[in-house]
Amino acid sequence: MLDLRKSVQTDLHFIPHSLHIHMDKRRTLIHKIAPEKGYHERENSIFKPRKYFIKTHDLCRMTQKISAAITAVSGYVPEDILSNGDLEKMVDTNDEWIRTRTGISERRILKGLNKATSDLCVPAVLSLCEKRGILPSEIDCIIVGTVTPDMLFPSTANLVCEKTGAANAWGFDLLAACSGFLYSLTTGASLIESGRYKKVVVVGADKMSSIVDYSDRSTCIIFGDGAGAVLLEPNFDGLGVLDSILRSDGSGKAHLHMKSGGSLSPATIESVARKEHFIYQEGQPVFKFAVTRMADVSEELLKRNNLTGDDIAFLVPHQANKRIIDATANRIGLSDEKVMVNIQRYGNTTAGTIPLCLSDWEDQLKNGDLLVLAAFGGGFTWGATLVKWGC
Ligand code: UT7
Repeated sequence: MLDLRKSVQTDLHFIPHSLHIHMDKRRTLIHKIAPEKGYHERENSIFKPRKYFIKTHDLCRMTQKISAAITAVSGYVPEDILSNGDLEKMVDTNDEWIRTRTGISERRILKGLNKATSDLCVPAVLSLCEKRGILPSEIDCIIVGTVTPDMLFPSTANLVCEKTGAANAWGFDLLAACSGFLYSLTTGASLIESGRYKKVVVVGADKMSSIVDYSDRSTCIIFGDGAGAVLLEPNFDGLGVLDSILRSDGSGKAHLHMKSGGSLSPATIESVARKEHFIYQEGQPVFKFAVTRMADVSEELLKRNNLTGDDIAFLVPHQANKRIIDATANRIGLSDEKVMVNIQRYGNTTAGTIPLCLSDWEDQLKNGDLLVLAAFGGGFTWGATLVKWGC
C-alpha cells in the first residue's frame, strides 16, 4: 500500500517511481493519468523520466487513504449580551472607538453561579450529535481547545464527556489560546487519519469573561464567551482536513499572558490583589505580530498546495480584530464576501471563534468548497488549515 505520510502535505502529489503502490492501484493510477497511452509507455513516462502530479482527492480514492471529514458543525453562545453601550457605563470608552478599532458591537456573557466553559461546550456537543443523528455514547474522543478550563484538573473534556453522556469517549484539553481550535482540529484529524478512531469531536470554547478585568478598557472591550464544535469522521474521498501549518513562539509570552495561577506563580492573596489572574495584553505588538503571522501562514498554506485565492470559497479567520481579518484576506487576495466575519456579534471568543463562524455559515457551504482556517493568539501560537468541505 502506498505510504502517503509524506505526500499528504500538498494538494498536488508527485508520484515518484520509488513509491510502493500496490500493482492494481498502480495500473488504475497510470490509466487515470495518461489513458491515451499503452501500459508500458504510460508507466515509463509517468514513473521514470518526468514528474507527474495528482490531486489529493484522486490519490485518496485510489489508495484508500483516510482523511478526517467535518460531518457536522454546531455553535453555542449564551443569551446575555454585553453591548458597547453597556461597556461605556463601566470604563472610559465609546461605541464608535470600539467599532472602528475592532469591529465589535456586542459580545455574549455566560452568567450565573457555577457556570463554566463546560456549560458552553455541552449544548454545542449535544446539538452536534442531534444534527448527525448519533448518540453521545458513539463518540470516541472529545478534544476541548480552551484557555479557560472549568478547573486545572480534571480536564474540561473529561467533564464534557460526563455531562453529555459520552460514556465511551476519552478526551483532553488543549491549550493554545486563540489557535486552540486549529491545534485541536489538526490533532483530532490525526486521530481519525490513524484509522483507530471513527468519531472525534473537536470543541473550541472559552468563558473569557472569567479572566477579563472589566476595569481595563484595552481588553474588556474585545472578549466574549462562546463555543463551537465539529464532528470528524473518516472519509475516503479526500474531503475534510487536507493540510495544516501550525507554529509557536514562546517569546510572545511577554506581550500576552495570564501571570498567576500556574505553577510559576500560584494564587496568593497578593497575586489576586495585583490582578494577576486576568488577561495581560499589550495590544499594539500583538496586533503587529497577528497581522504578519496570520497572513504569512495563510499565504504559505496556499502556496504549498498550489492554490490561489481564486480556489478558496471562504477564509475562516480567528475573530480578534476586524483590521487583522482584513489584512489577512487582502494578502491572499480574497474579497469581503469570501471572508467569514461575525466579530460584531460575539467579539473574540478565543478558541470558539472559528467553529462559531463555520456554524453561522454552514448553510452557505457547498460540497467540495475549499476553506482556509487561520488563527493567531497567545503564546504566541498561530496557524492555518486547509479544509475541503463535505462528507
Ligand atoms: O486574539 C488574541 C490576540 N489578540 C489580538 O489579536 C488583539 C490585537 N490587538 C488589537 O486588536 C488592538 O491593539 C486593540 C484593539 C487591543 C487596541 O487597538 P489599538 O488601535 O492598537 O489602540 P492602542 O492600544 O494603540 O491605543 C490607541 C489609543 C490610546 O490612547 P492615546 O494614548 O492615543 O491617547 C489608548 O489609550 O486608544 C486608547 N484606547 C481606548 N480608547 C477608547 C485604548 N483602549 C480604548 C478603548 N476606548 N477601549
